[in-house]
Formats: sequence, C-alpha cells, structure tokens
Amino acid sequence: MRWARESDRLQALLIDRDREVARLRAEAEQREAISRTLLSEFETTVRDRHFRDASTAEELQVALEELEVTNAALAHANEELEKKIVERTAAIRASETKYRLLFEAMDEGFLLGDVLFDEAGRPVDIRFLEANPSAARLMRQDVVGRRLQEIDPSFEPHWYAVFGRAARAGKATRAELYAKPLRAWFDFYVFKVGGDDDRRVAIVFKDVTERKRIEDALKRFNATLEERIAERTRERDHLWELSEDLLVYADYDGRLLRISPSWSRLLGHEHAALLARPYSEIVHPDDAGLVRAALDELRDRRRPMRIKCRILAADGSWRWISWVLSPDPDGCHLHGVGRDITAEEAATAALHTAEEQLHQAQKMEAVGQLTGGVAHDFNNLLMAVLGNLDLLRKHLATDPKAKRLISGAMQGAQRGATLTQRLLAFARRQDLQTQPVALSALLDDMRNLLERSVGPRIVVRLKVPAALPPALVDPNQLELAILNLAVNARDAMPDGGTITFDVTETAGTAAGERASGPFLRLSVQDTGAGMDADTLARAVEPFFSTKGVGKGTGLGLSMVHGLAVQSGGAFRLSSAPGRGTLAELWLPVAATPAEAAEPTTEPAVEAVVEAASATILVVDDDALIAMSTVDMLTDLGHTVLEANAGPLALDVLRENQDIDLLVTDYAMPGMTGAELACEAHRIRPDLPVLLVTGYADLPDGTVIDVPRLAKPYTQQQLAMAVAKLLVG
Ligand SMILES: Nc1ncnc2c1ncn2[C@@H]1O[C@H](COP(=O)(O)OP(=O)(O)OP(=O)(O)O)[C@@H](O)[C@H]1O
Ligand SMILES: [Mg+2]
Repeated sequence: MRWARESDRLQALLIDRDREVARLRAEAEQREAISRTLLSEFETTVRDRHFRDASTAEELQVALEELEVTNAALAHANEELEKKIVERTAAIRASETKYRLLFEAMDEGFLLGDVLFDEAGRPVDIRFLEANPSAARLMRQDVVGRRLQEIDPSFEPHWYAVFGRAARAGKATRAELYAKPLRAWFDFYVFKVGGDDDRRVAIVFKDVTERKRIEDALKRFNATLEERIAERTRERDHLWELSEDLLVYADYDGRLLRISPSWSRLLGHEHAALLARPYSEIVHPDDAGLVRAALDELRDRRRPMRIKCRILAADGSWRWISWVLSPDPDGCHLHGVGRDITAEEAATAALHTAEEQLHQAQKMEAVGQLTGGVAHDFNNLLMAVLGNLDLLRKHLATDPKAKRLISGAMQGAQRGATLTQRLLAFARRQDLQTQPVALSALLDDMRNLLERSVGPRIVVRLKVPAALPPALVDPNQLELAILNLAVNARDAMPDGGTITFDVTETAGTAAGERASGPFLRLSVQDTGAGMDADTLARAVEPFFSTKGVGKGTGLGLSMVHGLAVQSGGAFRLSSAPGRGTLAELWLPVAATPAEAAEPTTEPAVEAVVEAASATILVVDDDALIAMSTVDMLTDLGHTVLEANAGPLALDVLRENQDIDLLVTDYAMPGMTGAELACEAHRIRPDLPVLLVTGYADLPDGTVIDVPRLAKPYTQQQLAMAVAKLLVG
C-alpha cells in the first residue's frame, strides 16, 4: 500500500498549497483595506479641518505630522508584509519542489484534471492539466491539455461517473476498472482538489493487469480444485479397492484404522475383525520385537522404511509380508504398503537348505575319499600282520606262552580290521555281496539279538508286513547297520523306552528325483533324548560322537549312511531334543526274489585242506601282502609262483601250463585283478581265479563271474576259498 500512503501525502501537499495561497491572498486584501482606511481617514481629517475653519498653520502642521507618523507606520507595516510574503513564497517553493520530486519519481501515474459535465449535470469528460511521467507511460501517450474523449472516445461511461462523483462529492474514491482501449486493468484513487466550486480531481493510478491475471488464474484454479480433488479421491479409492498389496493407515499404539479389502482377500480375516483387534495379535511372536523397534524408529526418525514380518492368516498359516512404511506428518499415524512374499521366502529357504545339503554332501564325499584311502592302506597292513601272526601261531603251537601272546596280538589286529571295515563302509568302498534279501525274515531273525543288545528296559517293536518285495543289499552289512541304529537308540534311552522298526514300500527316497525307485524304507524310531540341530547336522560325519573318548567311535551312522548310498539307496535322520529320533534307510527293491537261506553245508575245512597240493600263481602289487599270502599257501602245502603286476602274471601263465589256480589282488595299477582274470581266461579258459579285494571299486555294470575273498583274511579263510575252487 505504498502508493496509498504517497497519495495521502500528495493530497495533503495539494491542500497545503491551496490554503497557503488563500491565506496570502487574504493578507494582501487586509493590507489594501488598511491602506484604504488610512487614506480615507486622512482625507476626512483634512476636509474637517478645512471646513471647521481650524486650518491654522499650526493645526495643519500638527495634522501633517500626524499624517507622517501614520504614513511611517503604514510603510513599516508594508515592509513587514513584504518580508512575510517573501518568506512564504520561499516556503511554498520548497514544498513545491518536494511535491515535484515525488510527482516525477512515483511509480504510480498521477493526473490532475477538471471534470466536465453536460447541461444535465452528468460527468461526460475530463481535461487533464497535469500528468507525471508514470501517467504518460501508463496511458501510452502525453495527455496534458487533452480530454479523455479526445484521447480515446471508447473509454466506458463508468470512468466519467467515478471522476464526476469525486469531483462533486469531494469524497476520495477507490476503484479498480478495466480500460478497454488500453487493454489493461487500473487501480484508481481519485480525490477532489481545489475549492468547493472547482470540479478538479487528482487521480493516482497503477496498472494491475498482471495481478488481476494471477487472481483470475487463482480463481479458476480454485474453482477446478475441488473437482480435481474429487477425481483424485475416486482414483485413490479405486486403487485402494483393487490393490493386491495390503494398504493400511494405522497408529503407533497398535490399531489398524483403515485397511484395504486385499487384507481380507489375502489373509481370510473379516474386515471388521481386523480393525477390532490390536495388530500385534496377528504379528508372529518371533517378529514382534522387530516390528515394535521398527515402529519406534519410524515415529522418532520420521523417515520411510522397509521391514519383513510374518502375519497370521485366518487358516492359522503365516504369510511373509514385506512392508514399506511411511510416517504421517501428524506424528501419530503411519501409512503402509505390504506385499505377500511368502512364495519367495519359501524358495529362498529351499535354496538355502539345498545349498547346505550340497555342502554337506561335498564334505562327506571329501572325508569319504580321504578315509577310504587311509583305510585301504591300513587294511593291507593288517592283512600282512594277521597273515603272519596266523602262520607264526602254527609254528609255535607247542609254546603255550607264545601262543597266548600271538592270540592277543591277533585279537588287536582283528579289532583294527573291524574298524577299517566300518571306515570302508562309510567311504562306500566295501566289498558288498549284494543279493535279494527279505527284510521281514531278516528282522525276525535279528529280534533276539536286538533285544539282547538293547536290554530289558527297552521294548523292541517290529512292524514288518510279510508280503514285501525283497531288497537288494548285502545282508551281513545290513544286519550291522540295523544293530548300529538299535545301539544308538538304546544309548539315547538310558531310562528305557521303545524302538520301533518299520518297513514300507515307497516309490522314491527322501533324496528324491535322482534315485529311481521302487524302494523299501526301513525306519527305526526311538523315544529317546533326540538331538539338537548341531548334533543332528554332524551325526553322520565319521568320528563324530558325543559319547566320550573310548565310548563311541563315531563311525556307526557313517557306516549306515555309506551302506545305504553304496547300495543305491539313501539314509536320513530326523530328530529334535526331547522328541526322539527317526532313522530312515531306503534300499532298492530287488528284481529277483530272495533266495532261501543257504544251508551251511560246506565241506569240512580240514578235509578240503587235506585235499591236494596245487601250483598257485599269486599276483599282488603289495610285496607285504604277497609275502603273507605266499607264506600261507606254502604252509598249506601248495607250490606258489609270484608276480607283482598283471602283464607279468600273464607271462608266467604262458610259460607255466601246470598252474592250477590264479589268486590275484583286485586293486593294482595298470591292470586290475578283474582285467587280469579276463586276459588269463583267454590263455587258459578253464583256469580257476580267486579275486582278493580290499574294497570293491568295480565300475558300474561290470559283472565279474569270479569268486572273491575280502581282505584281511586268515589262513583258514584262504584255505577254504582255495579248496572250494580246486575241488569244484
Ligand atoms: N538315536 C539317537 N538318539 C540321539 N542321538 C543319537 C542317536 N543316534 C546317533 N546319535 C548321536 O549321533 C552321534 C554319532 O552317532 P554314531 O552312531 O555315528 O557314533 P556313536 O554312536 O557316538 O559311536 P559308535 O556308533 O561308534 O558307538 C552320537 O554320538 C549321538 O550323539
Ligand atoms: Mg553308534
């Protein structure tokens, strides 16, 4: 409102000037009046004195002196008046300069003009007397001395009405009018100047077109705003209704205030029920702390954030929801968008499990290879030790003390051999004598042994249907595995309990796709202490035992696992603390029916040993084993030839037609025992061969129709095997 203040000042100035001029005029008139009075007084005096005949020289003289005095007073008065006039004029000039400066410099246009009326007293035009530079700029031309009608006749009548009202009523008028000819809006302040009879007005005005435009735009904007808000609201409602995501407006105290229909669609809860209960009731207890902390942070830091938590569905299941939460500016509420990521979470978890399983499998594979290699070498050493001790015992048969010492050494070596067998089993390098086995019969036969092994406080339950196909497995090793599982179960139930053996037929194994069925699933369930997750994860590892030094070798489950895998099946343990343990063993179903248990009608060993003395070719790359075998055979009365590799053995065969039997090791560099057997049969198709194996590494699909003897063996076992071949 700067211009309003300026125009008030201007108005005051103009009024001052008019008043000042009026006062000076009055003073001048006063001066003239005094002068006139004095003069007439003097004339009267002179005339009076003349007619009253008192015009003596003295009286005249007195009268003249009086007149002079009066004149002098008059002159003095005149001088004073002149001075005053000069002073006043200077003051008026100064104030005029001020007025002029303001007049020139002000941004607003200033016009001074006389309003013209027609005979009927209607204002019809205005003649401009003065204009400042801003007025000329705003009017786009010089207007001084011209009438508005002249300048542009198309100025609307309301212009003259405003000027006329101010001129006549003397009331300052404020108006905002559109000037069509100038195509602009003006803000006007019109006020009367001059005397009552004057029709003079001063006009202060400025161009407000731009402000008007903005105001209009604002008006139009406001008019459409509501409509647009309504439209946006409709759009938002639409989104709210259709969204698959969970949309929510809630407070920090745990109440859901508004929720989208997707909540009911996804979670199955009634809409009203969700609003009625605190949301903490549908958040998974394990996630509650996280959610609380996230909300506190949201309220304090006022920044959007993401969290994941599980939300309870009506069917009791938990859905994983990923939330984007943002605080409401009011500080008391929050907005949230939740996406169901249950499927993704499940996939991630499955991937994680698969990775862990793979990792575990790789670890077992690596440990298996290492163990297998060591066990194989160790087995050969034991073979040599046992073989030699066996022979020594015969030689020192008469010395009771030596006999006792030797049998002690042999027992130790035997235990070592058992241990290496378990290691080899874990490494899946056993020489398995697989055959169709009826599991029901096998378990029935084992019942006594099992009951004795677990003791009277534990109930053994067998749930084995009779009509099951046979499994393809090494029965001796399977018995060992079952015994291992039973002993583990016993150890987990020091206060007694139940062990349940169960056999069912299944299409696949727990390992799934890779193994091709059908399978027999043998499960062993106990009611013991169970295992925590860490123990469960490591239970199958070789040498892992919680039973303390000297109590457990940690090879029991390793053996079971190795046997299952080497047989083409699978093994799985499930357990939790306090919930007992379930061990499951899958074995492939045999294509042919189980053989009836062979009657042990083997010829008496001694008789056979007596049978005949023969020429035998022994082939082994390990000198120690070769020596022990050669010694055993020589001791049995046979003639023995030696070779330490397949090709050399073939040479010996070619040169010696009288060889009755070939005894060869399986694992040899260059040519294996199996290959040697084939080649030997080319030279001597009828030659009996005995394959000595530390472990069976026969490539898949190789069928060798050759009798086998597993290392380590005693002289008696060797004698039996050799005799069978020589006699048969
Ligand atoms: N049925 C079971 N209940 C609870 N824990 C078990 C069970 N079976 C095995 N375990 C745990 O797994 C570990 C490894 O078992 P594993 O049979 O391989 O070795 P071990 O029993 O300790 O020793 P060994 O079998 O040579 O006597 C055990 O020490 C025990 O902690
Ligand atoms: Mg065990």
